[in-house]
Amino acid sequence: MVDVAAGRPELAGALRDPLSLFDVSGRTAVVTGASGAYGRTISIALGALGCRLLLASGSKEPLDQVAAEVAEAGGTVRTLVRRPETLLDAGDIVGAAVEAFGLPHMLIVASGLNRPAMVDDMAEPDWQAVMDANVRGPWLMAKAFSAAVGDDGRGRKVLFVSSVRGRHGNAAGYSAYCPSKGAVDALTRVLGTEWGPRGITVNAIAPTVFRSALTDWIFRDDERGRAARDRNISRIPLRRLGEPEDLVGISLYLLSPASDFCTGQVVYVDGGYTAG
Ligand SMILES: NC(=O)c1ccc[n+]([C@@H]2O[C@H](COP(=O)([O-])OP(=O)(O)OC[C@H]3O[C@@H](n4cnc5c(N)ncnc54)[C@H](OP(=O)(O)O)[C@@H]3O)[C@@H](O)[C@H]2O)c1
Repeated sequence: MVDVAAGRPELAGALRDPLSLFDVSGRTAVVTGASGAYGRTISIALGALGCRLLLASGSKEPLDQVAAEVAEAGGTVRTLVRRPETLLDAGDIVGAAVEAFGLPHMLIVASGLNRPAMVDDMAEPDWQAVMDANVRGPWLMAKAFSAAVGDDGRGRKVLFVSSVRGRHGNAAGYSAYCPSKGAVDALTRVLGTEWGPRGITVNAIAPTVFRSALTDWIFRDDERGRAARDRNISRIPLRRLGEPEDLVGISLYLLSPASDFCTGQVVYVDGGYTAG
């Protein structure tokens, strides 16, 4: 019989205890945009799995609320009211995690922004704000994370949040959002290749519409919401919109040792939207 784990003896145990591949207890995570729908959800899930978390976002009250939920779930948590707008901010966010818990194992960039407007009506500062939040922010956070971990990269994980809009256009005023998510996809591939030799994996999840402050209007029971919902659902093979909880399983895979041989990938969690 072929011993499939012969080349990596440490994997042999995983064959007898496959769930150990997903064990993240005691690991440290930095989460930006932690006050948002996805940031909150993945933070609570990691807290329940025994992680130590540094949560960052720009607004104190919602951040404190999420921190309380993470602690209640069993996580150890610190907060920093900060958005990754400059390299100094990004360094402060990672630095706060290092100070509290030591070198972080995971970086999750869950901060992001959309300001839909038709291109003819869109003011340049709005376009720039979307690009800054969605591209510059992840780049700055990844750079600060890399600087902190230095040569000690093996097994560390970076997770970005892209979107099906990185691949598909949208006629509803997405001339900033779509290019910003296309750039996240490219950044994921570049950092995955650049940092592969250091053992750091870099991946992204790409959802379609899921319930959050960004998409709240699509879930509303008014004419505009119903029309948008019907339009979206008709293109989604699984015939529903997403919930933030739909993103947890794939995120845990990409944040745990289970994904140690997976990097530079954009994984669609979209009810099949991009398959059709
Ligand atoms: N919801 C969807 O349907 C959907 C679909 C595909 C992809 N995504 C992506 O998923 C990620 C999470 O979004 P979400 O849906 O969870 O949205 P959300 O609930 O609005 O959360 C967004 C987070 O980003 C922070 N943020 C807002 N403006 C920012 C800025 N200018 N710079 C940095 N941070 C800023 C917010 O916190 P503060 O305001 O406190 O800083 C908040 O914590 C985003 O990258 C989004 O593009 C969402």
